[in-house]
Amino acid sequence: MVTAGPTREFFDPVRFLSNPSSGKMGYALAEAARKAGARVTLISGPATLPRPKGTRYLLVTTAEEMYRAVMREARFADIILMAAAVCDWRPVRYIPRKVKKKGNRISLRLVRTPDILKELGRRKKPGQILVGFAAETDHLIPNALKKLKEKNLDLIVANLVGRQDGGFARDENRAVLLSAKRPPFRLAQMSKRELSSKILNFIKANR
Ligand code: CTP
Repeated sequence: MVTAGPTREFFDPVRFLSNPSSGKMGYALAEAARKAGARVTLISGPATLPRPKGTRYLLVTTAEEMYRAVMREARFADIILMAAAVCDWRPVRYIPRKVKKKGNRISLRLVRTPDILKELGRRKKPGQILVGFAAETDHLIPNALKKLKEKNLDLIVANLVGRQDGGFARDENRAVLLSAKRPPFRLAQMSKRELSSKILNFIKANR
């Protein structure tokens, strides 16, 4: 099972909070896993990429919808790759009509969305492999290691975001693979397709 893309958290019918994720990493992983012979379920937030051939495809919008879809599917999955950039916050209130402009300011109150990966870590089946991603602007390795541990993951793919040469919405990325068992495995800058193969090979070698 692979998740991909951003989520959207609407506060009225035409406005939402989100992030710059394009879905490229998750879609590339789904494709690579299918080519490696896996039966793939791809759970995607809003992305403009073509639906990958030969995968079961579930489209969701919000973090809450992604949470429900993931929890429904997780028990059938041997390997879970959580590449989605889930919004951590959603507006407390949804206003069903377009909010009209009045005055110069508006305040939004936000509430946390469920941490899907953390819940998957709690529910992990014996033998199931759980892979997370860490998007960090600084202190890459310590921040990612903290997530590896706190979310009970087998592997975390750590990458810097908010830079020119990789991260959100780009074709290439540079990542470090961190697992509980192995020292950090630093990868060069490469396409997300190549990075997907490296991630799958790493899982295979360390299973
Ligand atoms: N994730 C998730 N549910 C959330 C937030 C994140 O499942 N509500 C998953 C992401 O898919 C990713 C991993 O958790 O695999 C780490 O996401 P990241 O945005 O790097 O970190 P957060 O856990 O959100 O922590 P922080 O925002 O404090 O860095």
